[in-house]
Amino acid sequence: MDEPLTLLEKAALLSGGTVWQTRAVPRAGIRALWFADGPHGIRKQTGSADHLGLGASQKATCFPTAATVANSWDPELAEKVGEALGAEAAAQGVDVLLGPGLNIKRSPLCGRDFEYFSEDPYLAGKLAAGYVRGIQSQGVSACPKHFAANSQELRRMASDSVVDERTLREIYLTGFEIAVREGHPHTVMSSYNKLNGTYAHENHWLLSRVLRDEWGFDGAVVSDWGGGNDPVAAVRAGGTLEMPSSGFDSVERILRAVERGELSEADLDARVAEVVALGGRVERPSATQRVDEAAHHELARDVVAQSAVLLKNEDGLLPLAPGTRVAVVGDFAATPRYQGAGSSLVNPFRLVTTLDALPASGLELVEYAQGFTRGGAGDATLVAQAVRAAQQADVVLAYLGLDEISEVEGRDRAHLRLPSAQVELLAALAEVNEHVVVVLSGGGVVETEWLGRCQALLHGYLGGQAGAEAVLDILVGKVNPSGRLAETYPVRLEDTPAHRYHPSGGVTAEYREGPYVGYRYYATAEVPVAFPFGFGLSYTAFAYSDLEIGATGAAFTLTNTGSVAGAEVAQLYVGRDPSSTAGVVRPIRELKGFAKVALAPGESTRVVIPFDEYTFRHFSTATGRWEVESGRYSIQVGASVEDIRLSATHEVTGTVEPTAGRREDLPHYASGEITNVPDEEFAALLGHPAPPTSRVRGPLRLDDPLAAMTEAASPLARLAHRVLVRLIARADAKGRPDLNLLFIYWEPFRAIAKMTNGLVSTAMVEALLVVVNGHAFRGIGALVRAAVANNRMNRRLRRELAAVSH
Ligand code: BGC
Repeated sequence: MDEPLTLLEKAALLSGGTVWQTRAVPRAGIRALWFADGPHGIRKQTGSADHLGLGASQKATCFPTAATVANSWDPELAEKVGEALGAEAAAQGVDVLLGPGLNIKRSPLCGRDFEYFSEDPYLAGKLAAGYVRGIQSQGVSACPKHFAANSQELRRMASDSVVDERTLREIYLTGFEIAVREGHPHTVMSSYNKLNGTYAHENHWLLSRVLRDEWGFDGAVVSDWGGGNDPVAAVRAGGTLEMPSSGFDSVERILRAVERGELSEADLDARVAEVVALGGRVERPSATQRVDEAAHHELARDVVAQSAVLLKNEDGLLPLAPGTRVAVVGDFAATPRYQGAGSSLVNPFRLVTTLDALPASGLELVEYAQGFTRGGAGDATLVAQAVRAAQQADVVLAYLGLDEISEVEGRDRAHLRLPSAQVELLAALAEVNEHVVVVLSGGGVVETEWLGRCQALLHGYLGGQAGAEAVLDILVGKVNPSGRLAETYPVRLEDTPAHRYHPSGGVTAEYREGPYVGYRYYATAEVPVAFPFGFGLSYTAFAYSDLEIGATGAAFTLTNTGSVAGAEVAQLYVGRDPSSTAGVVRPIRELKGFAKVALAPGESTRVVIPFDEYTFRHFSTATGRWEVESGRYSIQVGASVEDIRLSATHEVTGTVEPTAGRREDLPHYASGEITNVPDEEFAALLGHPAPPTSRVRGPLRLDDPLAAMTEAASPLARLAHRVLVRLIARADAKGRPDLNLLFIYWEPFRAIAKMTNGLVSTAMVEALLVVVNGHAFRGIGALVRAAVANNRMNRRLRRELAAVSH
């Protein structure tokens, strides 16, 4: 039927019909689209729907998380993972896969770092683009997330990221830019946070100017679940679809705004066209399509084989010869830690443990000892048993790592230490056996003051359902490790650039460290690290020679000088030539290209890493554009950010001449010493004073999180706050953080209307706030009236929509 869509139908298409689906307009051939998490496996919920991984979901392959895959430095491998994810999504009837997640690891404390790729935007962007291409090759839309500057879990829905434009563009947006330009996703997910004062989902600058006008994105912007605020502002700004369903609350607000002339129909039509186009872009997934579970398991295994990072291998202890008698110690060998927790939680088809896989590895198991309990204090009996096993073995394989509660969505890590029970266990093992290999599980970095107690260290990250097999393949040399760190291992948390600023408990999160994220800081400010960005050992060695720089890129010869086949990740870094003192302030070197190259023993090859539009550019706050400064640049090629093997100077004719570079008003940014930037200098970087960091005292507002009820005028609200705090603490004490409660605690009042499927409207939340603010009588009256009105409105619009659209 080609009757044009009615106003009601249009407004109804811009918010969800359920937790996971959009609304359909059957008479216009518009079907409901199905969304599902997530980044490393499909989480299509079967029963009661929630978005925090609490309800059960259909089985799927659990691939390694993004933090793991990133260490492969291999966008083609990422694309293969994307293809497999897309195929599984299609087979489950999923239209839009909510991933990949590519937020920059601003600090290793972020609770969701395990879901993100890297501290570097170029690497993150290239890998994300691979995922997007792979997913979309199967007729399913990818949905890169969370756009943008979403770097902490604390107050994640109630935080305003305050970032200067240059840092924002060069660090936090460049990864998305690459993913959009090279992957062409059909959707992008906006983040929960505000960005420089405006919610991401209604940030016109972000969604229309940058994403659509500058990068050419022509798809739909989907809000994070409950991340919508003002639906009218979203439509104006370029936010397409609000998820999940908020009943007809947002629909009605859009209708009213159009009727009153506050929202133009042109804006409405533009957003509707994006939803309709999305439906046309995702092919109707075939219900008959079958997933090759065995092939996907093998792929998941191969990814870990290419991604695990060998961090230490003293005296060539690894690889272990067949028949080596090993003691396997550590709870993770029996019960793997293979994924994080929250919306990305996958219900795996299979899960192979180290103990399952060991018989096929060629190693001889002397004994398995648990060694420690998850989350528990040290246990002398378990340690004694582990020590006895270690005494009888040639080599001890100690499976250590972060337990389930240390890396979860909704909560940041409190420190970077391994649980003390594990560190004590390691010390006891090292006393009786000098050949200890630590195999680490965890989605991020840890402090390694215990490094001297092991002879070898392999970081398997979060390996998904087949990780244990791949790790054993590396330990016995069936696979030569080729993973390289996509993030820096600092010596201590206090050395990390944002440790004074992150996570912020205030209403703003100030990105005072500017562009000095990860290695950009350590390398520029010369802060020693435990393991640098890009680092990883191999069972062979590589030599670099004959660097030639041309107008289009760098070429050099790479030789495998060892006796086994292996792959090297050659990295290209660019910085200003040290002899030039002019120009904008910038990190000493930045990653601008890389190549993963497999070589047989003795083999040489000429490697070319091309320059591209990202190589020399910086964002000029003076011209408001990307510019290239003319002059000399240092081109460096190496095996990590600190292991530069070849370098040369290269003259570039740019778009601007280097200026004095604001060194006087930005002295800390000029030196890279940014851990304690004073207010005035941060204001100079921002171009205006930073907004207040704490909430303005006074009545609670829609924007305030429920956590702010501690300041509420109503004693009942303060009591509710105390009850919430107590329930959260009780769950924590049991070692099982309650993600739902954490979500509620930091949820802004406005989100109640977004997460209750129409049961609660915005007007009802406004009335509730009147109660919370101490006017119980007035508030309850208003609440009852609003509830009645909401009920009527939902019934009426549902009826009207059904009448027109079927
Ligand atoms: C998460 C998203 C996820 C969504 C749906 C949100 O809480 O931030 O990453 O895709 O829920 O589960």
